[in-house]
Amino acid sequence: MRRILVTSALPYANGAIHLGHLFEHVQTDIWVRFQRMMGNECTYVCADDAHGTATMLLAEREGVTPEALIERLRGEHETDFKRFHISHDNYHSTHSPENERYSSLIYTRLAERGYTFTREVEQLYDPERGLFLADRHVRGTCPRCGAADQPGDNCDVCGATYDAVDLGDPRSVLSDAAPELRRSEHHFVDLAKFESFLREWTASDAVQPEVTNKLAEWLDGGLKAWDISRDEPYFGFPIPGAPGKFFYVWMDAPVGYMASFANLCERTEGLDFDDFWRPDSDAEVHHVIGKDIVNFHCLFWPAVLSQSGFRTPTRVHVHGFITVDGARMSKSRGTFINAATYLDHLDPEYLRYYFATKMAANTDDMDINLDDFVQRVNSDLVGKVVNIASRCAGFIGKNFGGTLTERIHDEALWREVSEARHGLAELFERGDVGRAVREITALADRANRHIAAHEPWKAVRDPERQDEAHEVCSLGINVFRALAVYLKPILPAMAERAEAFLGVAPLAWEDAAEPLCGHGIEAFQPLFQRMDRKALGRVVEATRAEAKETAPPASAADEKASDSDTISIDEFLKVDLRVARIAAAAPVAGADKLLELTLDVGDHQRRVFSGIKSAYDAADLVGRHTVVVANLAPRKMRFGTSEGMVLAAGEGDKEIFLLAPDPGAKPGMVVR
Ligand code: 2FM
Ligand code: ZN
Repeated sequence: MRRILVTSALPYANGAIHLGHLFEHVQTDIWVRFQRMMGNECTYVCADDAHGTATMLLAEREGVTPEALIERLRGEHETDFKRFHISHDNYHSTHSPENERYSSLIYTRLAERGYTFTREVEQLYDPERGLFLADRHVRGTCPRCGAADQPGDNCDVCGATYDAVDLGDPRSVLSDAAPELRRSEHHFVDLAKFESFLREWTASDAVQPEVTNKLAEWLDGGLKAWDISRDEPYFGFPIPGAPGKFFYVWMDAPVGYMASFANLCERTEGLDFDDFWRPDSDAEVHHVIGKDIVNFHCLFWPAVLSQSGFRTPTRVHVHGFITVDGARMSKSRGTFINAATYLDHLDPEYLRYYFATKMAANTDDMDINLDDFVQRVNSDLVGKVVNIASRCAGFIGKNFGGTLTERIHDEALWREVSEARHGLAELFERGDVGRAVREITALADRANRHIAAHEPWKAVRDPERQDEAHEVCSLGINVFRALAVYLKPILPAMAERAEAFLGVAPLAWEDAAEPLCGHGIEAFQPLFQRMDRKALGRVVEATRAEAKETAPPASAADEKASDSDTISIDEFLKVDLRVARIAAAAPVAGADKLLELTLDVGDHQRRVFSGIKSAYDAADLVGRHTVVVANLAPRKMRFGTSEGMVLAAGEGDKEIFLLAPDPGAKPGMVVR
């Protein structure tokens, strides 16, 4: 028997649980429930990530203490997860005595062993609010293109990334005061000292191959020291021996995994903290996370653990992001759906099932399509799997005294369904749940075809075919039971109803090995209702209504991060997009990322500075066609005036892809 500790990323204590959290927790819960069905001892802990400036500022806005705020949210989060059948064994908080103890212990051990140092850091300080400002709390003029009112870390207009201290005319978004530059001593973990350990660890099977590759890029770029301190006022734990300094929220967040487990151990007979966390432990520790926080979990966390007397994670399972109907979740479009809003209208297992169809062992992003959601639940789950039970159970009850036959009608079919448990177990183990669901539905198709071919509804009325009808329906019930086993990690409540109907003890994975013969079943109760598309529409409507009610967020930057609004066709038509031919291209002296482009726009030429140098050689661009925003107000830059903007896709750096029309488009043509 394996002993396994599993975690999901700790949700921040500054907002409600939404689809994004649910995806990850459902993914983790499916894995955990699968392990338990296999007979492994599997403990699943989580907690709220309570510390940081965001919590402090939100509490201030709500006029409550941070402690009161985080306790309220912790309760709400725990309830939401329970209602989605997430089987956490403990849902704790990072603001806990256990976490303070382990965070301090880890820090002290690292400091004693020479893995930390202090250094002065220059940072923007809000003199009105009396606090140092994080990048997201500062806006100002882009140092590269001169665009006004840009965020503190990167420019929305030209895509430049920079330090907030380099912004022109900076403003604090908290008070609108002009920030001052102040120096302050910060504490660092010297990550570079862990390089050889991390090279080995990140190449092990503790991470997926694509994650190993991403981490190798970072390691090759050199590891920067990690700033783990923040100045007061800060909602967090004081750093031992450093008055006025607090642990940065990301320092004590992963320690929260240990702390939640320690808290559980204190009240659970037979569960021993050291058994799991000592360096030579043979128990397993698995973290499930999104790809945005890989650096914290696959660099900092194993590094810190390796030199503070604890074991490192067995495996970090990294998943991609979700989009809804092809776009980032948006409150105004009604797709930034909170758990509680969903639950007002729909059964949580619909969503668990649909999420499961999307899960893979890789880090690709997944799109949640609302029409597909209804379709998958109604046609596959209800129409194929549950249908087997509903079409067979009536005959067994009415015509055959509620008892299944001793004989299996089609041994080959039963074997196929039963033997599938080995392959499916492998898929669940490695997180390829979507593929497992497709295989389960294919088995349901096979069983439905078998039933249809034998037409028990006719056979049951033919005295000579009674046995056949009985056997076919009994096999149908047995196939349904095996499929209920395979779906139980995904649909625990449905499985429980199935167990009651089948008159069996809680299903374990190996129950699919043998059929039920001569066994009495209960009268059939509907196991799953079809999903109502209109109810999903009501969820979307309610989400939109919430967006209207919600007070505007603290800053325009927060708004941008959580929402993106729609525009009308008239607004879109205001943008004059034209085909342009790149007549000349040249690097710009003194600018790392800019190329100066001379664009032929049909009736005239114009000059545009574009931040695409990292991806293109100037010479390669000459003669190419692209698309330019022709009516963008001219912008004065250090190097001259830019008259428009060329369009490109991608994240920046090497990942920039200039838009190009199909051959035949002529300079000056309108793009629509
Ligand atoms: O990204 C987040 O939502 C963080 N609150 C996750 C923390 S995970 C762990 F390190 F605590
Ligand atoms: Zn800019």
